[in-house]
Amino acid sequence: MRDKQDLTQDMKSTYQQNVNPEQMLKIIFDYTAKIASTNDLDQVLMYMADMGREMIAADRCTVWVLDRERQQLWTRVAHGVEEIRMPAHSGLVGHAIRTEQPVFIDDAYTDTTYRNMLKDGALKIDQQTGYRTKAIIVVPFRNNDGEIFGAYQAINKMTAEQVFSEKDLEYISLAASYSGKSLESVQLQREIEETQKEIIFTMGEIGESRSKETGNHVKRVAEYSYILARGLGLSEDEAELIRIASPMHDIGKVAIPDSILQKPGKLTAEEYTIMKSHTNIGYQLLNNSRRRILQAAAIVAHQHHEKWNGQGYPQGLKGEDIHIYGRITAIADVFDALASDRVYKKAWELDRIVKLFEEERGEHFDPRLVDVFQDHLADILAVRDRYSDIWEEHSAEQ
Ligand code: C2E
Ligand code: SIN
Ligand code: SIN
Ligand code: SIN
Ligand code: FE
Ligand code: FE
Repeated sequence: MRDKQDLTQDMKSTYQQNVNPEQMLKIIFDYTAKIASTNDLDQVLMYMADMGREMIAADRCTVWVLDRERQQLWTRVAHGVEEIRMPAHSGLVGHAIRTEQPVFIDDAYTDTTYRNMLKDGALKIDQQTGYRTKAIIVVPFRNNDGEIFGAYQAINKMTAEQVFSEKDLEYISLAASYSGKSLESVQLQREIEETQKEIIFTMGEIGESRSKETGNHVKRVAEYSYILARGLGLSEDEAELIRIASPMHDIGKVAIPDSILQKPGKLTAEEYTIMKSHTNIGYQLLNNSRRRILQAAAIVAHQHHEKWNGQGYPQGLKGEDIHIYGRITAIADVFDALASDRVYKKAWELDRIVKLFEEERGEHFDPRLVDVFQDHLADILAVRDRYSDIWEEHSAEQ
């Protein structure tokens, strides 16, 4: 008895134990605190991988993120190291993402179900590196909208059993559901920062903006657009995107001469033609970036003067051919233009604005959005009051 135990002692000492519930809580608390306190996407990915590895006593753990634009999966295994990329649908991870189901393998060398995927993936890498891949677990995870966002991949169970269990699947799914949500918010935060830098750069290139409209106009249009988007039933993620993108709708006005932009009276037909070019100019300024936020802003800049009945500009698009971001910003922009003083006109009374929206339901504006506007008028007025241009009205009276 004793001899037999001694014989295996060496081997056994290299095995790990499964973590007990107390250790599990500590791992979760420690890592979620670390993850919550960083904005660095690469760092978050690495913490998540470490958390998963410790939770289920795996030898290796990788967190893959889906890049929908390029149809690739990417990850980063260490700071300063190039990110690793692969086609979104290749290998076991691609299979898990495509089928939206976890993959479980006890021994990669004898598995028959996934033989072809393993031959081009894990087994090939083992040949090159001398590593022995045995157990594999892959669990896809989702973002806040329930869309597949990436996958956890763990390799080799370090306990004596050497295979992953149902419990491991539950634990890694827990880590995964948390990861999907935090990764998305870090990525969005990072995108906002990058976008701000890019915009500042773009503005610098074309000279400073001379539009008289205040920062509050921009804030109000953002909030109105968000309210309309949510009221229409768009997701939180998409409404947030519109909130960020809609303030850029008039960015093309930076190229319109002061003599037109700040003309106190009515524009001549020729001046109005020049003014209308702010839509195409804005589109061209923003469309060069592949960034999601600037892509949305490009659509908004291009289409915010299109009309539901096809009588708008610059393309004369009609109905649902106008992107929903354009239709939403159209209402937000016109409401704010009417509810504020402009160099060329005084603000309108609310009754008159509401009446115009009723008249333009199905003409200028998407009828469904006019309904949403009316249903949420109280919220919209609260935004108007919160970001009112008191000082501007004051100086206009002088
Ligand atoms: P904006 O001032 O931001 O106005 C945006 C949109 O709100 C306008 O798009 C129009 O659809 C609506 N809007 C604004 N004021 C009125 C109004 O008094 N009555 C009605 N029914 N709708 C109004 P639009 O017409 O394509 O104009 C685009 C931009 O051209 C305006 O942006 C403004 O910068 C400029 N603009 C338009 N008309 C005049 C004008 O008579 N004089 C001057 N100086 N600029 C004008
Ligand atoms: C990264 O820089 O970490 C990834 C960026 C990307 O996926 O485009
Ligand atoms: C991506 O990974 O989908 C690109 C996001 C980014 O550029 O930050
Ligand atoms: C997602 O797929 O929802 C996140 C990335 C994106 O929306 O571009
Ligand atoms: Fe405009
Ligand atoms: Fe505007």
